[in-house]
Order: sequence, then structure tokens, then C-alpha cells
Amino acid sequence: VKVGEFKLRSGEMSKYYFDMKNLVSYPYLLKKIGDEIYKNIAGKCDLLCGIPIGSIPICSYISTTYEIPMIMVRPSVKNYGIRDNIVGEYNPTDRCIIIDDVITSGGSIEEVVEVLEGKVDLVGAAVIVDREQGYTCSVVVESLFKRSDFEECNLKTNEVNNEDENKVFEIKIRKPNDFHHHLRDGETLKTSVEHCFRNFKNAVVMPNLVPPVITIEQALEYKNRIEEQNHYNGNPMMTLYLHKDIKIEDLRAFKNHKEMIGIKLYPQNVTTNSKDGVANIEEFNHIFKVMEQEDIPLMIHGEAINVDIFKKEAVFIESTLPKIIKSFPKLRIVLEHISTKEAVEFVLNNNVHATITPQHLIMDRNDIFRGGINPHHYCLPILKKIEDKKALVEVAISGNPKFFLGTDNAPHSEGSKLSCCGCAGIFNSPVAVQIIAELFYNHGSEDNLEKFISTNGCDFYGLPYNEEYITLREEPWVVPKRYGDFVPLMIGETLLFNII
Ligand code: NCD
Ligand code: ZN
Repeated sequence: VKVGEFKLRSGEMSKYYFDMKNLVSYPYLLKKIGDEIYKNIAGKCDLLCGIPIGSIPICSYISTTYEIPMIMVRPSVKNYGIRDNIVGEYNPTDRCIIIDDVITSGGSIEEVVEVLEGKVDLVGAAVIVDREQGYTCSVVVESLFKRSDFEECNLKTNEVNNEDENKVFEIKIRKPNDFHHHLRDGETLKTSVEHCFRNFKNAVVMPNLVPPVITIEQALEYKNRIEEQNHYNGNPMMTLYLHKDIKIEDLRAFKNHKEMIGIKLYPQNVTTNSKDGVANIEEFNHIFKVMEQEDIPLMIHGEAINVDIFKKEAVFIESTLPKIIKSFPKLRIVLEHISTKEAVEFVLNNNVHATITPQHLIMDRNDIFRGGINPHHYCLPILKKIEDKKALVEVAISGNPKFFLGTDNAPHSEGSKLSCCGCAGIFNSPVAVQIIAELFYNHGSEDNLEKFISTNGCDFYGLPYNEEYITLREEPWVVPKRYGDFVPLMIGETLLFNII
């Protein structure tokens, strides 16, 4: 919307100029507006009619997204013999809604009504803005905005506006922390460490290397290899892999090593490099006892062995987790990458904390199969139902201190993802913060963003809050198709926020 003195096509002067054609430069806005228009017309029509050129982008977006066929009518081309000014197929029984960008006098919609009369069942028109100039139209017109809405916003004239225009929406928060991150080893370290610490200050580094990290000595050696690539001055916080050969003296010495943060439980064969994981939890009671005494956090991959893949988490939570909590009430536990509403409820009602990944907050199991199988959306725990995703979003955006971000960033080379036995894991570190910011913003919960993404986890692990800050600017950012050998989450998508 431009503010100033404008001469309209009709000759009238106007304070506002609604430049809806320019929407094509802001794909995320076009989408948002298309979705809002769709809410008004959902179920009421089987055919959309766009008017070139103003309404074509928005009409095409609604048409392809919600699978409603469309036609196009050029209002100013009259019917000459065989030249038809209706493009596309239609039937007299089709309930049709005309989509337009702005309605002023109603003239162009009325011309389209004339063309369509008798050819389709015309049920109405939907527009983005009604200029409130007293249009005349023989069909019902629904508008998303009215000129008076903009008056209420008290938009200033262009000169003053120039200053405001430079003021884009920004969110400033303490630099995020990632409480669950796979950095891998060897050649991969360079890429993974760079993307990790560009956006995160502290990162809990998972120990599922081959062979697994089971001694403090191995963990410190691994940390040294990470530090060689650590150009952003991040803080890798090291973990051990819960293993029968873990040394009790390492547990007793744990708190003397600031670099160590906890011990990770992998059930056997449930995920990447878990063949040395736990088959029988009771065999580890002596270790849990010492961990409880030494106040060493236990991070749990909470999935049951040999159960339907979609039920593994719920079964673990019902059968195994209560036993650990009951036997070791003071043991500090993080249930990692929770993916179900059962997990959310369990955490709310028990002495347990939880990490949540970006993928479980924005996708459900249908996203593995949308338009064909998508191996880049395969991770463990596997994505669950929409209801599960909703429950996760609700607690994440609530700011509840029990829940914090653990990206479960888990890069696998493109070749090992696109194989006949593709690996589980999503490379999300370049996009995780932006995705979560957009999610919180869309729910009007940006005030809780810093808690989820930065401070809640510090409270649990007893870390100081980061003094470094980042700014998320509302500035569309297109996710690259790959970073070296790794394909990131949301490839090619336009995200709302950029980190500056
Ligand atoms: C992780 C990996 O690849 O290391 N994969 C995954 O799908 N999350 C392992 C894990 O955390 O389960
Ligand atoms: Zn993981």
C-alpha cells in the first residue's frame, strides 16, 4: 500500500494506492493472502476465475495449493465469433468464484460476470482489498481488507513512510543453544562444525560415532578434533554413549571435566550407530545409581525395540521410562527429540525434561510421502500424526521450562540418504533457528522464542545465559539446495526470517 496523492484509472484522486501486482515479489505474502482468501471460500466453489493480470498469481496459488481448477477471463476482450475470452474448461454446474485483487467500482468484476452468465453457476467474488468506493456488483463480494482497515493503521505519507519502510520487523534474542546435535567425525566435521556454531553457542554433541564414545578420554580427543574446525568460538559439550564398558571411575570423575555434559542412552538397533546400544535396561542399574549420585544427566533416545515404528516412542514411555524414574527418582533425565502427544503428556506430569526438533514441529508423517517418497524427511523417531505435531507446537511455544530445542541435526551424505537402505537423520542446522522463529512468529509467540531456543536448556544444564545476541530479520531467505554433500531441510523453500 502506497500513501500519497494518486490519480486512479477512473480519474479520481486517492490517498492510497493498492499495488497488489507487486505481491509477486513477496512469495510468502502471496501465499499468506492466498490462504486467507481460501478460508473464506473453502467448500463454496469448484472453479476459480482469475482476471488477468492482477489476480492471476493469487488465483493460481489457491488453485494449485487447494486443487481447485481455474479459468481466466479477460474482461476487456469482447466475444468476436470464435475467439473465446474464457481460457480453461468449465461446466454449467460448476460453482464458480471470481478472484480479483482490488475492487473499486466493481466494473471489471461485472464485465466478467456478464461473460460467465449462463456458462457456470456463479456464486460470488473474493478480493484482497475493497477500496470502499461504493461498488456495484451483481454477485456477493467478500474482501480480506477494506480501505478503512488501512486508515485505522494510520499509515503515513510516503516521505515519512520511507523511514518506516526501512524498519523491518526484527527479533533479537540471546544466541541459541542446541541441546542435541550430531557433529559426526573425520571429513564431515568441517561442514558440520561450521553450521553448528554459526547459529548456536552451546551444542550438546552426541556420541554415536563408530566406535561409540564411551570414555572421557575419547570424548576429550573428539572435542579436540572438533575444536580444530571451531572458527565461531562455539562450545561443544561432550557426552558418553551408555555402554556396558563405561568405567565407574569416569562417572566419578565426570564433574571434574567441564567439557562433559551427560550420558546418552540408545536402545539397541533403533537408529544410526546403535548396535552397541541397550537391549536390557536392568543391566545398567549400577550405572544409573552412580549417575544419580554424581548428578550426571541421562539423555534418552526413548524408543522401544522390536515394536511398530510409529509406536516405539509411546511404548517406551509406557513400559521402560517409568521404571527408570521410579528406581532413580533423583536422576536428571532429558527425553530426547520427543515426537508424540504421549511424550508431551508424560513430560508435563513427571520429573523429566525434553528436547524437541524443528522437523517434529513443522512436519507430520504425511510429509515423508507428499507427492512421492522423500528420504530427506526420514528421521528417527519417525514423524508422527498431525495431532502429535500440534501437541509439540503447543508446549514449545508456551515457553514451559521443561521443553527446549535439540535439533537432532544428523547429516548423512546425499548418497547414503538416497540409497535403497537410506539412513535416518535430517541435516537441519543451517535452517533450524529460522524455522523455529517463523513458527513462533506465526503463532504470535515470539516472546517465548528465546526461552525455547536459548535459555530453558541453560536452566536445566546449569549453564550461564549467552551474552551474545542474534537478530532475526523478516527478510525472505531461500534455503540453498545443498551444502557440500549434504541436503538441508526445507531445500529451495523461502523462509520468513534471515539471521543477520
Ligand atoms: C541420528 C543419526 O543419524 O545419528 N538419526 C536420526 O534420525 N535422528 C540418530 C538419532 O538421534 O536417532
Ligand atoms: Zn540424535
